[in-house]
Amino acid sequence: MKVSIITGSHRSNSQSAKVGSYLQKQISELKLFKETYLLNLAHADIPFWDEDLKETGDKWKDTWKPVENELRTSDAFIIVTPEWNGMVPSKLKNLFLLPKADVMGHKPALIVAISAGMGGSYPVSELRSSGYKNTRICYIPEHIIIRNVEQVLNEQPDENNKNDIYIRQRIDYVLTMLSKYAEAFIHLRNADFDLFKYPNGM
Ligand SMILES: Cc1cc2nc3c(=O)[nH]c(=O)nc-3n(C[C@H](O)[C@H](O)[C@H](O)COP(=O)(O)O)c2cc1C
Repeated sequence: MKVSIITGSHRSNSQSAKVGSYLQKQISELKLFKETYLLNLAHADIPFWDEDLKETGDKWKDTWKPVENELRTSDAFIIVTPEWNGMVPSKLKNLFLLPKADVMGHKPALIVAISAGMGGSYPVSELRSSGYKNTRICYIPEHIIIRNVEQVLNEQPDENNKNDIYIRQRIDYVLTMLSKYAEAFIHLRNADFDLFKYPNGM
């Protein structure tokens, strides 16, 4: 099984990327998925949606198509998103405009929201209430909110606060759960529904 970890920050040296790398390391340590693909939207250079996407114009072939292929061959997703002005960043919203239903559709996804302060709940409700309609991504009921993110999951123990141990344990728990959902959803996708019969959700 393969999991794609998508980090949504636009900042090149972001806390989202730090958390994404930590999740990738844990997945490998716990042997939960055979393969991981880490997509950092700050560096991926995926264009904002335009009409050329339908014709697979040149700029899309070099940028989006390789990413799309990685996502299509994934069995699960982890969306790591910062809270920016109470929202998810626009590069992440853009990502949900691009795939057809066979890329993310009917695959389980874990939301990991982060905040340098006490925020982080708005991106969870935003992702849960929009963006799934046409992608058919399936967010699992458990999610993670990492508050004061700069003070947890650092490699140097003295940079971490007292919540660090709790958040690491909770992450292991929910990553294991995601891997079980991923196994179960393979059976569901084998049911051979025609994903293109209704390309847009209602
Ligand atoms: C444009 C912008 C808007 C932000 N808005 C919020 C916010 O609404 N709530 C919050 O808790 N933190 C907010 N922050 C602070 C972020 O939580 C903090 O910068 C965090 O590290 C962002 O994640 P990143 O490092 O992955 O970009 C904002 C930061 C930026 C750059």
